[in-house]
This record gives sequence, C-alpha cells and structure tokens, in this order.
Amino acid sequence: MTYQLALLPGDGIGVEVTAAAEQVLAALTQKFDLPLKWQTLPWPSTAWHQQHGTMMPDDAMQQLQQFDALLLGALGDPGPTSDHDRYRLPDGISLAPLLQMRKGLDLWACERPARLLPGAPCYLADPRAREVDMLVIRENSEGEYVNQGGRLRPGSDDEIATQLEVFSRKATKRLIRHAFQRARERMEQRQKQAEEKSFPCDRGGNHAAQVCLITKRNAQPAWGEMYTEVFAELAEENPDIATHHELVDAACMKFVQSPWQFDVVVASNLHGDILTDLAAVLSGGLGFAPSCNINPEQDGLPALFEPTHGSAPDIAGQGIANPSAMLLTTVMLLRSLGLHQAAIALEHAVTEQIKTAPETTGAAVTQAIIERL
Ligand code: IPM
Ligand code: MN
Repeated sequence: MTYQLALLPGDGIGVEVTAAAEQVLAALTQKFDLPLKWQTLPWPSTAWHQQHGTMMPDDAMQQLQQFDALLLGALGDPGPTSDHDRYRLPDGISLAPLLQMRKGLDLWACERPARLLPGAPCYLADPRAREVDMLVIRENSEGEYVNQGGRLRPGSDDEIATQLEVFSRKATKRLIRHAFQRARERMEQRQKQAEEKSFPCDRGGNHAAQVCLITKRNAQPAWGEMYTEVFAELAEENPDIATHHELVDAACMKFVQSPWQFDVVVASNLHGDILTDLAAVLSGGLGFAPSCNINPEQDGLPALFEPTHGSAPDIAGQGIANPSAMLLTTVMLLRSLGLHQAAIALEHAVTEQIKTAPETTGAAVTQAIIERL
C-alpha cells in the first residue's frame, strides 16, 4: 500500500518550511524506497482567501479525509511583507481552518515534545536545563476552545461578553488514559536506550515515568475537580507510574525553575497551548518545536502534523526561517505511518545538523540535512 500525504504550506514561513519538508521527503523516499506519495494543496491559505473569499473550498474536509496524513506549514496572514499589502485577514478567519481540522477530523490529542537537542540554544542558566525532555499532551477537542458564547450590546458601556468552557468526562478520560500510555512507552524507550547506550540518558538518567496533571482547580473547581478525580482513577490503574499535580500558574514557574523534573504533562486545551510555547523555548525556541494532532484511537481519519510555530510575519519571505521544527514534525509523521527507518535517519540528520551548525537557518539547513541523509 502507498500512503498519500497532503502538504498544506499555508501562509508566511509555512510555505518555506513545507518546501523544506517536501525536499527531505523526496530524498528519504528515494533512499528508503518509501511507499509515499504526496500532493501540495493551495489551501487553507490567505492567498486562497484572496482569490475565493474563503480559506478553503466547501468540500475541504471531505477532500482531506482521503489522505493518510496531513502536514501543515502554518496559518495566519503574513500581512504587508507579502504581495497583498492592504489585504489583511483577521486571525479569527485565517486561523479558523486549523481548529476546524482538529475538531472535524476528531484529532482530540495534541502532542508537543520538548527536548533540548545538543547545540540548540539554552535560555536557562542552570546546566540541568540541558536535560529537558518532556512531552506535553494537550486536550484538542473541547475545553476553552469550544467557541460558544457571544457579545451582548457590543461596543456599548453595558456590553457583556460570554465565553463558555466545556469539559466532558469522556474526553477527560481518554486524554488522561493516553497520557499514562505515553508515559509508559517513553519509560520503556529510555530503558532500552540506556541498555543499548544508544543515546545519552535524558532527564538526568531518571528512567522513572511520571505524569503531571495541570489544572486551575483552586479558581475553576468544576472542571478542575473532575480532571483530578479521573486522574486519580487512572493513576490507580497505573501504579508503577508516578503522578503529580500542578496548578497552571505554578507549572509556568516550575517549567522555568526546574523543567528537567517533568516527563509527561497533560493539560486542557488553553493551558496546553500556553505551556507549549513556554516548553518550546525550553527546547531551543519555536524553530525547534514539533507538534502533531492525533486521534490515538486511530479511527481512520488522517492525523495533522504541524510545527508549534505560526506563520511568523516578521521573518516571512526572507528565507531565514529555521526548518528544524518542521523536519522534526516530519519525523513524527513518518513514525506515525510506521516508517521507522526513515524516521530514525531523519531525526539523526536533524540532530547532527543542530549539534554542528545550530546557527544555520533557511534553505542551507535543508541542504545540509539532505547531504547527511
Ligand atoms: C497553536 C496555536 C493555535 C492554538 C492558534 C493559532 C489558534 O497557537 O497551535 O498552538 O491556539 O491552538
Ligand atoms: Mn499556541
């Protein structure tokens, strides 16, 4: 069987980093004779909107369902740096397809690993910050992102805005169960690597698995307590995995103060969003932070792979965007399709490139990585 990928460059630097991914996929396909085919779609994008008045065609979701996996560059109007000077789309329009795809394809978990690769910039002074190796799992289907609410008497002094948050026990349970599952897999992986001495031990040689739950249950007890209860139930089913709870504000502090203590972190949609920008900095910055939106129950719909970074209007079009985050995202994609040999080769090439020439950016990085392959 041949896997069909859709490449969705999107906007701004999304176009540049997707071109990098395509070149690398071509090199890997040739080298490993991979059963891969891909098609580049001109939507969703601001450019498509400029021509058609919508970010993507009416049947976009049906079209996307035909693929085995989706690789998205970034969305967000890059603004006046592009050739459509006065054509600016509000975020609410340009970013909407991202949320539509996550929800429409039932991709209820967002995984964002944060590992500081040797050579990548380390913003913290404590040398233990080099051992950062965590996986943040973000709820991706509900919570603060249900977009229900409205504005009453808009613009007036008496305006009232409401924004509803929705948390279901079902979504909470599947998310936290998945977090424990991942913690177990990561522990097994660390043990295996330590035995083979194939990779330096991460987390200071600590192989124990831990899941940290994030809430704001002191101020938002309704969902915070439900999350806590479900977490306790699943902890009982996983007695060999350590558990821990942090309020989101304290978690922000500890991500900076002692990030090496975290293993798997599980958080709501909004808390996960905020924490993963912080986690990206811990792993060298947004230029190094991969991400994927998945349905761990694998119901046949394609997963959506996208680097954590956005369209970066400030540097778009200059050819200086770092494709590393996108290429590490491509590693996640290859792995999800079971193409392990290619995934390992690409991860190794990106890792070596960051180690030897971390300051290189743009197409030079892609070229060097292809040579390493
Ligand atoms: C992300 C982004 C999106 C989010 C925006 C663009 C809607 O910040 O993928 O982290 O909040 O999920
Ligand atoms: Mn974000």
